[in-house]
Amino acid sequence: MSKFVIEGGNKLSGEIAVGGSKNAALAVMAACLLTEETCEIENVPDILDVRNFLEILKHLGAEAEFADHRLRITAKNLTNRPIDAELMGRLRGSILLAGALLARFGQVQLAHPGGDAIGRRPIDAHLDGFRKLGAEVSQQESGIQIRARKLQGARIVMGVTSVTGTENLILASILAQGPSEIRLAATEPHVRDLCDFLKLMGADIEGIGTPFLRITGQVALHGAKFTICSDEINAVTYAIAAAVTRGHVVVKNSNLENLDAPLATLERMGVKYEVRSDGSIEILESMKPYAGTKIVTGVFPQLLTDEQPLFGVLATQARGETSIHDWIWEGRQGYLKALVQMGAKVQFDDIHRARITGPTQLHGAEIKTPDLRAGASILIASLIAKGRSVIYNAEIIDRGYERLDEKLRSLGAKIQRIE
Ligand code: EPU
Repeated sequence: MSKFVIEGGNKLSGEIAVGGSKNAALAVMAACLLTEETCEIENVPDILDVRNFLEILKHLGAEAEFADHRLRITAKNLTNRPIDAELMGRLRGSILLAGALLARFGQVQLAHPGGDAIGRRPIDAHLDGFRKLGAEVSQQESGIQIRARKLQGARIVMGVTSVTGTENLILASILAQGPSEIRLAATEPHVRDLCDFLKLMGADIEGIGTPFLRITGQVALHGAKFTICSDEINAVTYAIAAAVTRGHVVVKNSNLENLDAPLATLERMGVKYEVRSDGSIEILESMKPYAGTKIVTGVFPQLLTDEQPLFGVLATQARGETSIHDWIWEGRQGYLKALVQMGAKVQFDDIHRARITGPTQLHGAEIKTPDLRAGASILIASLIAKGRSVIYNAEIIDRGYERLDEKLRSLGAKIQRIE
């Protein structure tokens, strides 16, 4: 276990580049299992979730090389070995193996996936969709077994607009017999990246980026080269880190197309920024007070649940009340409890709703972060807290951020990783 030790009080300034999206990379890596040919993926973030997923793919017999954000995967000699609880439990994205292996082998046996402690993580929408495609699903305490003699295209209206559920059903229907429709599909940038990559592999998908996907099953897919989109959550993280420290930072490689809701929220809260034609966001130094607002999370293009905890930190520096309603995960308020330990004024209305009153001078605290996004928000709060903060389980942050400590240090933050 390593920890981050942060001394608050420094303004951030300089340039920082956003890397590839974690959740897009995981979905694209799962899609590489649908062909025996080699796939080459660029802009892959070197983060713990990607490394752990790669370990699972290798356990299944895929050959993989990963260096300098370039990943080559050849799944020619893939075997359908059961995946045990320890491997599956390392990350939530491992659930994507259900769709990929079902498509490739017609059956799959998995332990339950892991992931953050942010609430119940049901997969009923995934399993209902697999059943519609003709699969039989059986669930035991030890895991899930899914089999289909031949997957048949189907019309699936998703009962819940689930991100990995949509990705799993895309993966499963891509080699099914005949056409499929996936309605009320998630439209997150990572779902779009998965579809764009599959198209390059020879898949027939219409409606990409909309909640209505039409897929015509193919006999086989081939290898392809693809570049992962930039991580919208990391872009928001850097922008808010700059804004709360009253710094001046250019956030490069921010895919602006994916940032309408967070940018609009920054504007509403009074953060001064400019967007540039090269896709950068320049957070401008400003001493004007920020303003409280109303934040409701949603499905893309609305503000994402993974972006919400970052805005919670900004809210502690805003005048008046900010209400936050995140209906997606019932365990998302762990970061607010940590902010309270740091001096934030928070009224918890119920497990999905809270109100933050500011501005407040935060103070350092010693905290074990409950989840990845909470970790990022506690870290940012530590940058403005008076005194020293310790985040004990730095590895949770490493799951989704590449060398976040080094990057923030290059902008002037006082942060050390202690092994
Ligand atoms: N839900 C159901 N039934 C299902 C699936 C989901 O009721 O079968 C509910 C969940 O309880 C939740 C909502 O639907 O209330 C959304 O869950 P979703 O399935 O979309 O989440 P996910 O696919 O498990 C992905 C991201 C999460 C992100 C959510 C929401 C990956 C690997 N994970 O999770 O990212 O919070 O979508 O945008 O893509 C993270 O990166 O830190 C992270 C947690």
